[in-house]
Amino acid sequence: MYKTLAGAPPSGQTLACEGASLAYVDGSRRTTFALREVTVSLEPRRFYGIMGPSGSGKSSLLYILSGLKQPTEGTARFGDFRYREQSEKNVTRLRREKFGFVFQQPFLLPYLTVLENIVVAAPALGEEARELALGYLEELGMRGLEHKLPSQLSGGEKQRVAVVRAMVNDPAVIFADEPTAALDRTNGHRVVEALARWRTRGTVVVVTHDAEMVTDADALVILRDGRIEDTFHQTPSGSGSDQG
Ligand SMILES: Nc1ncnc2c1ncn2[C@@H]1O[C@H](COP(=O)(O)OP(=O)(O)OP(=O)(O)O)[C@@H](O)[C@H]1O
Ligand SMILES: [Mg+2]
Repeated sequence: MYKTLAGAPPSGQTLACEGASLAYVDGSRRTTFALREVTVSLEPRRFYGIMGPSGSGKSSLLYILSGLKQPTEGTARFGDFRYREQSEKNVTRLRREKFGFVFQQPFLLPYLTVLENIVVAAPALGEEARELALGYLEELGMRGLEHKLPSQLSGGEKQRVAVVRAMVNDPAVIFADEPTAALDRTNGHRVVEALARWRTRGTVVVVTHDAEMVTDADALVILRDGRIEDTFHQTPSGSGSDQG
C-alpha cells in the first residue's frame, strides 16, 4: 500500500527567528528594511499563514526562516541548528533534506511527465519516490494524471504537482510563497488544502495576499512595513481566534 500523509510523522523542531532584521543598502547608500526586529516561533505540525501588503516583508521572512538569507541583525534557527553558526554548505544541506518549497509558479520540466517531475526531486529515494508520489497524487485527487505532461494539466493541477514534489522528500517544513497567486479561487483552495494536509507530518508556512486561502490555518502572522502587526492563533477546536 502507498504511504499516506497520515503515516508516522517525523519528529518536529521549532522554526524560529529572534529579533531578525533584514536591511538592504542600495547604490546610493539608502537603507531599506525588509524586516525589522521580527520574532516568531513556528511549531511542528501546524499550518501558518503569513499575510500583509506587497512589500511588507513576507518573502523576506521566508528567506530568513529557511536560511536562504542571513538577517542583518538577530538570528534564525531550525531547532538548535542556528544558521549563523553553520557553514553555508550545512545550511544548504538542511534546506535540501528538511525543507520543501512551493513558489508562485510550479516550475515543472516541460519534457518530463508528472511522475518524472516529482521523482527527479528525490534522487536518493529511488523506487520509493514513485510509490510516495503515487500515494500523494491519489490523496490530492490527482491519480491518473501521473503520465501526463505539464502542458496537459490545468494551472491548479500543475501547482498540486509542485506540492507533491515538495512532499516527496518528507520535509519537516514546507514553505510556500504565494502558491495560489496565479490560480482562480477554486484551484487556489485545492492547492492550499493540499499544502495544509502536510501539517499531520510537519510545519506548513504559506504566504498569501488572500485571507480566504488561510481561514483554516492554525495561526496567522500579519506583516506591515517589515514588522509583525498582529498574530492570530486559532483555538485547538478551530472555532475562534485570539490575539497576541
Ligand atoms: N534585493 C533587494 N534590494 C533592495 N530592497 C529589496 C530587495 N528585496 C526586497 N527589497 C525590499 O524589501 C521590502 C520587502 O520585500 P519582500 O519581497 O519581502 O515583500 P513581500 O511582502 O514579499 O511583497 P510581495 O507581496 O510584493 O511579494 C520591500 O520594500 C522591497 O522593496
Ligand atoms: Mg513576496
